Amino acid sequence: MSEPDARASGTFSIGGDLPVARLGFGAMRVTGDGVWGDPADGVEARRVLARLPELGVSLIDTADAYGPFVSEDLLRETLHPYDGLVVATKGGLTRHGPNVWKPVGRPEYLRQCVLMSLRRLGVERIDLWQLHRVDPAVSMDEQFGVLRDLQAEGLIRHVGLSQVGVEEIREASRWFEVATVQNLYNLTRRDSEEVLAYCEQHGIGFIPWYPLAAGALAAPGTVLDEVAERHGVPHASVALAWLLHRSPVMLPIPGTGKVAHLEVNVAAAHLTLSADEVEALDAAGRAAWEAEVAAQS
Ligand SMILES: NC(=O)c1ccc[n+]([C@@H]2O[C@H](COP(=O)([O-])OP(=O)(O)OC[C@H]3O[C@@H](n4cnc5c(N)ncnc54)[C@H](OP(=O)(O)O)[C@@H]3O)[C@@H](O)[C@H]2O)c1
Repeated sequence: MSEPDARASGTFSIGGDLPVARLGFGAMRVTGDGVWGDPADGVEARRVLARLPELGVSLIDTADAYGPFVSEDLLRETLHPYDGLVVATKGGLTRHGPNVWKPVGRPEYLRQCVLMSLRRLGVERIDLWQLHRVDPAVSMDEQFGVLRDLQAEGLIRHVGLSQVGVEEIREASRWFEVATVQNLYNLTRRDSEEVLAYCEQHGIGFIPWYPLAAGALAAPGTVLDEVAERHGVPHASVALAWLLHRSPVMLPIPGTGKVAHLEVNVAAAHLTLSADEVEALDAAGRAAWEAEVAAQS
């Protein structure tokens, strides 16, 4: 096959005026173990980022907390001034060590997050800034109010939320137009179905994180395995293609620190599944998810 091109996944306009190829990239894996410090292979991580525009990827997801700062710094080093790219960053989570994430939603801290991301990324306005987590210790009005102010001041173009339910989206919508929601979602992780439906109804981009996971379906003889075999592609490609078929507002951001994996993931934009395959994957994914929930309760 010729060079894969993320634009084959179609276009979504973030906030109605910022078009991106629907298949994007998550820049969390270009950091060290536990999303802490520098990547083990910095040369390869830089190659991955430099390859994104060549592969038609235009939506790049990052966060100040990735490293912390390592991911944003590498993006600036390799891709500034980001011609044709939308760099979506996040703030509101502090880091105390590998795999440790603590929300801080005080308005003065959220303002600092935005100001420091502007500086690190080397931009005057952030295209999409996402509240990494709603802090339960701070009122939603305080958190959303400062984001409304930052948008009004022209420091952020569009505002997104992460790991939220429908009620929080409604609350935030009193303050600003919610452009995107980024929640954990994949074939076998389906607790955000209601949020996805809400996003579809309101033209909000839905960014599923951990999109490649396939839980119990990542085994020989499953529907996922059969579909992958039929098309001669890895499981990862089918998991991504299913997401792209699932909804027109779906914007997957698979992450990797390896060029070979990036190329496989982008190639999923070219994979067309039949209606029967989409339905069978959907049913098997839901069943695996329901079985997991039942086992936990
Ligand atoms: N909002 C949030 O709270 C939140 C939380 C987590 C993540 N995120 C965002 O979502 C993005 C994606 O999530 P994620 O990184 O957790 O999950 P993911 O993209 O589903 O999976 C990434 C993992 O899969 C491996 N991988 C990637 N492509 C592969 C391929 N083709 N074949 C085999 N293995 C492959 C990667 O390792 P290699 O590096 O070895 O390829 C990495 O370990 C992140 O980069 C980040 O931007 C957001």
